[in-house]
Amino acid sequence: MEEMIKALPQHTNSWSKGKMIMYKYQDFCAPKTGTTWLKSLSFAILTREKFDESTTPLLTKFAHECVPLLENSHVVEHENIRKNLSLPLISTHLPYASLPESVISSNCKIVYIYRNIKDVIVSQYHFGREALKLSMEDAPFEEAFNDFCKGVSGYGPYWDHVLGYWKASLERPEKILLLKYEDLKSEPKSNVKRLADFIGSPFSVDEEKAGVVDNIIKFCGFENMSKLEVNKTGKINGSLFENRFYYRKGKVGDWMNYFTNEMKEKIDKLTDEKFDGTSLLLK
Ligand code: A3P
Repeated sequence: MEEMIKALPQHTNSWSKGKMIMYKYQDFCAPKTGTTWLKSLSFAILTREKFDESTTPLLTKFAHECVPLLENSHVVEHENIRKNLSLPLISTHLPYASLPESVISSNCKIVYIYRNIKDVIVSQYHFGREALKLSMEDAPFEEAFNDFCKGVSGYGPYWDHVLGYWKASLERPEKILLLKYEDLKSEPKSNVKRLADFIGSPFSVDEEKAGVVDNIIKFCGFENMSKLEVNKTGKINGSLFENRFYYRKGKVGDWMNYFTNEMKEKIDKLTDEKFDGTSLLLK
């Protein structure tokens, strides 16, 4: 990373240079919409017959190791975990339009998690800043905000990212499930059951009575996951990012601590324009 930064034109500061690198190497800059949470939940749901909360690999393995990212260059190592468990799960941040035709035409199902745009901006900002080891003074939020509004962010403009999967989910509802971060927070049980049904692993009545759903929700919740040693101090081999970067606050509405009134008005207007005629509510 340091070498890449040095190789860039010298007229920009380290924050701008770092961001340029992140946008270029998109796998570095995740959408920050709850992917890590969704991975833990899906993994726990699909492996619940093998493991419980005291034996699950999630206790010692980072969620991104348990469910690898397709475009991540370290995928081979993680693939082993997936293969050992015969786990049919893989993740990607690719926009729908960039998915290979083989994926679209396959029988695989897609779960897409999306989130309030303002919280996505704040989360992406801190993730990038932390990765580059920059303070908030050195990496102004306003710059990240302006870039985001121009559509400059990892994996392209966030609105288009959401719209791509939203449209596809209308055309192929049996293949694509949209989950909203805020809904998963406010109504975890119904949404985790929806997820389990969709991925073909519904909870039985007996499981529900035995508290299996509640246990999975609690185990995968921010409170628990962010306290696990692996998520506090771990790092994927060869990655630039510490696992803890993926567990920052885990709250809805943190944007209120960063946005001025002008910023709020600007992003809400953009979102209204982009999502005009849709049922999407991400403000
Ligand atoms: P914040 O930066 O707002 O805290 P991703 O996994 O797509 O990279 O998204 C990361 C965001 O999801 C971060 O948001 C992180 O704190 C939050 N997150 C991670 N695990 C979570 C969990 N179990 N419950 C709720 N939010 C979680």
